Amino acid sequence: MTIETDEEFQCLKKIGRIVAITLKEMKSRTEPGMTTLELDQIGKSLLEFYDAKSAPKITYNFPGYTCISINEEAAHGIPGSRVIQPGDIVNIDVSAEKDGYYADTGGSFVVPPSNFFKDKLISSTKLALGEACRNAKAGNSLNLIGKSIQKVAKRKGFKVIKNLCSHGVGRGLHEEPKEIPGYYDPTDRRKLHNGLVITIEPFLSTKSSLVSQSSDGWTLVGHENNLSAQFEHTMVITQGQPVLLTVA
Ligand code: CO
Ligand code: CO
Repeated sequence: MTIETDEEFQCLKKIGRIVAITLKEMKSRTEPGMTTLELDQIGKSLLEFYDAKSAPKITYNFPGYTCISINEEAAHGIPGSRVIQPGDIVNIDVSAEKDGYYADTGGSFVVPPSNFFKDKLISSTKLALGEACRNAKAGNSLNLIGKSIQKVAKRKGFKVIKNLCSHGVGRGLHEEPKEIPGYYDPTDRRKLHNGLVITIEPFLSTKSSLVSQSSDGWTLVGHENNLSAQFEHTMVITQGQPVLLTVA
């Protein structure tokens, strides 16, 4: 969506804060030995407390309240019986709706003990999000987002997962501009404009440039032993730096 009124902005800020708080709390309560279902239940209670609804559930009938993806799972992991282990890379993606407005956020972290390589994957993905945000300005080409992400990935020695995209959001979970690639597409002529609400969500990985759906019909996985990380914010495009909505 494109924001036209202050009321729309306030509503988006409200749901943005809710998903950010939910992600933060779920991350801080993650412990080895816990199942992803138990972790999802924490997300469920928080969303209920704030009177927000899980966006993947109401939009796609996703079998969970949040998406929790571990190690070789890149995204859309279904909360279930998988037990979180020390050293796992955990990705939590929280998107929700309140009063007809949607926000989407996500983040990856290592359950201790970590190592240099995992830390580098996490910090590089965070850096890619920061660099992409820096170039996301009204009037700029939308493909600068992918260009920035790809540049960081290359510099740090990681791959970009090409079939996981950033997207428009606001009145629905996935809106126009629908697929904002995480790599540079010179043929993409779309431009960013003032008030446009989008997510930016780079996915960096160690081996895989593409992920595919596993037999459960949801979870997106890469090569065996592939590791990936994602960070995502929902933001409003302005002439200057974007205004981040998914902040706690
Ligand atoms: Co998300
Ligand atoms: Co998203």
